[in-house]
Amino acid sequence: AMSTNCEWKGVPISQIIGSDSPWGAPEFPLVQPAYNHSVLYHIPASGAQLDRPPKPQIGKDKWDHEHVRMPFSSHSLYPVENSSGETHLKKRWDMIQKALNRPIRNTEELASAILSYNTKFKNKWKFRSLYELFEEHLEAEETKYFYDVTLPEMIKLALALPQLIQSPIPLLKQNKNHSISLSQQQISSILANAFFCTFPRRNTTKRDSEYASYPYFNFSMLFECSPSDHILEKLKCICHYFRRVCTNVPAGAVTVSRRAGRAGGGWRDCAARLGALRVHADATSTIEDAHGLIQVDFANKFLGGGVLNYGSVQEEIRFMICPELMISMLFTEALRPNEALMIIGCEQYSKYSGYGHSFQWAGEHVDATPRDSSGRRRCAVLAIDAQPFSNKSQEYKKEAITRELDKAWVGFSFFTADAAGPHFPGVATGNWGCGAFGGSAPLKLLIQMMALARAGRHLAYYTFGDAALRDRLVRAHELLAHHDVTVGQLYEILLKFCNEDVQKSNIFTFLEETLEKKRCQNQLQRENSGGETENYEL
Ligand code: AR6
Repeated sequence: AMSTNCEWKGVPISQIIGSDSPWGAPEFPLVQPAYNHSVLYHIPASGAQLDRPPKPQIGKDKWDHEHVRMPFSSHSLYPVENSSGETHLKKRWDMIQKALNRPIRNTEELASAILSYNTKFKNKWKFRSLYELFEEHLEAEETKYFYDVTLPEMIKLALALPQLIQSPIPLLKQNKNHSISLSQQQISSILANAFFCTFPRRNTTKRDSEYASYPYFNFSMLFECSPSDHILEKLKCICHYFRRVCTNVPAGAVTVSRRAGRAGGGWRDCAARLGALRVHADATSTIEDAHGLIQVDFANKFLGGGVLNYGSVQEEIRFMICPELMISMLFTEALRPNEALMIIGCEQYSKYSGYGHSFQWAGEHVDATPRDSSGRRRCAVLAIDAQPFSNKSQEYKKEAITRELDKAWVGFSFFTADAAGPHFPGVATGNWGCGAFGGSAPLKLLIQMMALARAGRHLAYYTFGDAALRDRLVRAHELLAHHDVTVGQLYEILLKFCNEDVQKSNIFTFLEETLEKKRCQNQLQRENSGGETENYEL
């Protein structure tokens, strides 16, 4: 292992991507309609390369528990009270069209338009963050530009939904391996509808509601947030996205794939060697800038986490700078412990600065990522949700460690399952589960290394400013390689560490000491028996 500058250690990033060219990484499975892949657009016969938005695939609207209930469905009806107090059902899409086709010149008119087809929330929704952004925070000209130029375009885009989506969108339910591909144009129209809060049954996630096991989707939730600075910055990201897609319709596509793997499996017997893993460790760069790699989203089991709420850590920030990721929230049921989600093809529209409460929209980002032969940006985001921990004693338990190993492995072996590696590209990750979710980085990085070694993918680890952690990681990996440790052996060592006083002990020190002790014991044994038995039994 060597490094040429002081920011990263280990092998150069090109060896993790799988080629010396940053775009040379092999392609993921292409977009191809199949029983387990719903493609919502018509793949152009001229090869899949998209230079203009593709036409929608034709199908029949489905209003049931297996599909997303669309706002324009003829089955979507809404109770309306007439002047004499009688209630009757109206077609919701007619109400939506009527409300959005009237002039909307300011936040008050926008709010009342949205409420006109969401009357149940008339006395509840206050649109606090929208008022603050447009009527207080932005310059008068910026607000005028939004209402004069951007909003009318967003309305057109939203109302074009019935033309743009003509085949039913299946729900990605739990334990189902299924993919959905949409054009970026289709996504923009769906997100515009989420902005106008038109999706039926998506204004609440109360326990008994139909979509209780799905993420929020209508933006009402974000509009209701109390308008602290980072909420306004999130709204700026969203407005910027719409400004961009309305001026220049993106021509590409995005695929969302869900994968369920087996759980609880085979770690003790796993013979994959950690020494076979290549490691690149960086203390200054970030995951989203690791072009060409599979980029981990430190997810919530409800995709997007607090993106439409107060959250602004890794996942929420990623969803804000690449809003197309939010499409996953429309149809992805909460992830189970043995499941992962891969999103291929999203584009970055915004730059950002800060983190958490200091998060800020930092202007336009022009994404130069090349497209694959299905017209998707060569960007793969892998959503895996760590477990939230409130203290270390929960984390250092066999069940907890096994759960995280299984979760990471399901994600890292996406599209390859148990096929022998190495597979390219490698994975860009970092302190997964170690911020909002309270896990410890040393344990989580060893877990991720094990899952990667088993999946046969190499590792690029971004320590988010922590140079000491970067150095320990590289040293730990060298040590594991030096002792030729297998995943199964490391698993045993981790379980043994759980019996230590985990508040006080250091897992890296424990690892060093354990391996050194074993080496001495083995040497002794060899000298005594004259044989060459390797024995790591602990
Ligand atoms: N690149 C590399 N490392 C990063 C980056 C980045 N862009 N951003 C943060 N880190 P966290 P979790 C590091 O808290 O603990 C969300 O609400 C940084 O050290 O986002 O898995 C989700 O929706 C940070 O402390 O992930 C879930 O609900 C650490 O990664 C929940 O948070 C963890 O980032 C997941 O929490």
